[in-house]
Amino acid sequence: MSENKRASFGGKLSVILVAAGSAIGLGALWRFPYIAGKHGGAAFLLVFLLSVLVVGIPAMLAEFAIGRKTRKNAVGAYRSISKMWSWLGYGSVLSALFISGYYYLIAGWSLEYLVNSATTELYTSALPFTEQFKEFQASWRPLIYGVVFILLTHIIVSRGVEKGIEKASKIMMPLLFIILIVMAVRVAFMPGATDGYRFFLSCDFSEAFKPETIMMAIGQAFFSLSVGMGCMVTYSSYFKKNNNLVTTSLNVSLLTLLVSVLAGLVIFPAVFSAGIQPSEGPSLVFVTLPEIFNGMPFAPLWSTIFFVLVMLASLTSTISFHEVLTAYFAEEFKLSRQAAAITTTGISVLLSALTFSSLFGIDYLNIFDKLTANVMMPLGAMFTCVLVSWFLERNFMKEELTNNGTINKYVTPVIVFMLRYITPLLIFYIFIMNLL
Ligand code: PHE
Repeated sequence: MSENKRASFGGKLSVILVAAGSAIGLGALWRFPYIAGKHGGAAFLLVFLLSVLVVGIPAMLAEFAIGRKTRKNAVGAYRSISKMWSWLGYGSVLSALFISGYYYLIAGWSLEYLVNSATTELYTSALPFTEQFKEFQASWRPLIYGVVFILLTHIIVSRGVEKGIEKASKIMMPLLFIILIVMAVRVAFMPGATDGYRFFLSCDFSEAFKPETIMMAIGQAFFSLSVGMGCMVTYSSYFKKNNNLVTTSLNVSLLTLLVSVLAGLVIFPAVFSAGIQPSEGPSLVFVTLPEIFNGMPFAPLWSTIFFVLVMLASLTSTISFHEVLTAYFAEEFKLSRQAAAITTTGISVLLSALTFSSLFGIDYLNIFDKLTANVMMPLGAMFTCVLVSWFLERNFMKEELTNNGTINKYVTPVIVFMLRYITPLLIFYIFIMNLL
């Protein structure tokens, strides 16, 4: 596609909804609650908030600047900024592949739970919920639902940037907020809910500043904001030149934080009300929540609504990393958008099958998750910050953030300073501390 014919998202709100759609997903609804549950509740929330501010937002802005300036896929974008740094683009594509290797499968769990809630089977089965989860994991259904999720993603992405991605995000994101708020209000009326609030909102500082907690929080910030793997580079390549990058990144981050906190406010009171350990792990959302819904009138209805929420949030995220790969194949290999989307879909199916099969007894889900969130995304973001602030012309970030001197005149120097001295060093420091 030639430069001037390249697709672009519509107005300000569309840009925010699309980017927030990528950001808000399993990271906020599934990963955040169980990691916060393991690392001290509010203590984790606090460190997470700081990570978003100090590392997440500056790194997102660096990606926005690169994407909008070059208007290319992740590999093309890094390459045209600097040939020497094109490996960062390939790193992004690799991260997108690893995420594809497990994210669709978990998103698929939400489809199974959605279907079983809607048919009421989840609540009428004689098996306890933990057994139902085990039985589900031991069957072929996770792979089948994972593939269904890939196909849903494929349909949206292959309809294109404007008619597919933008339109879907504009419908799904507002729906997601409404459902989440309804759930938070409903949960507040459950017996024992206050214990959950107390756990989630009380701070254990001894937990908060351990290197491991900080690393998990930084990893969560990158994962949740979709930063450090070319996603925001690809999406911002469809931004318009007059878009305000700073306010866009602030809005996206605020919405992500808001949804993470709301997810905590739904899940912890519910967990405590059912007397379950908040550090349950990845199955937290899938095993414990049905337990809780079970005690409510109209259990299948609430449960269906909840899993629709998880599904919608996941779908606006899967389309974003599918797009990283689709744009890469289309532009780098000169494929049509359809052919590129089919290639991405095919690879995603293969990777999901690999993870599902645990070939050679390897826990790919855990490896892909930790490797991307705690290693590849922080390193990708760190090198991107180093690239924009130490290797490009001094004015590169300034021009992009101020739209050539017209806006954000006062915050830009602060962001440029952070990108140069604070964000990359902090990521590096925590990364090394964590290795020792
Ligand atoms: N941010 C998404 C979530 O929280 C996951 C994601 C990571 C999406 C990286 C795109 C790129 O679920």
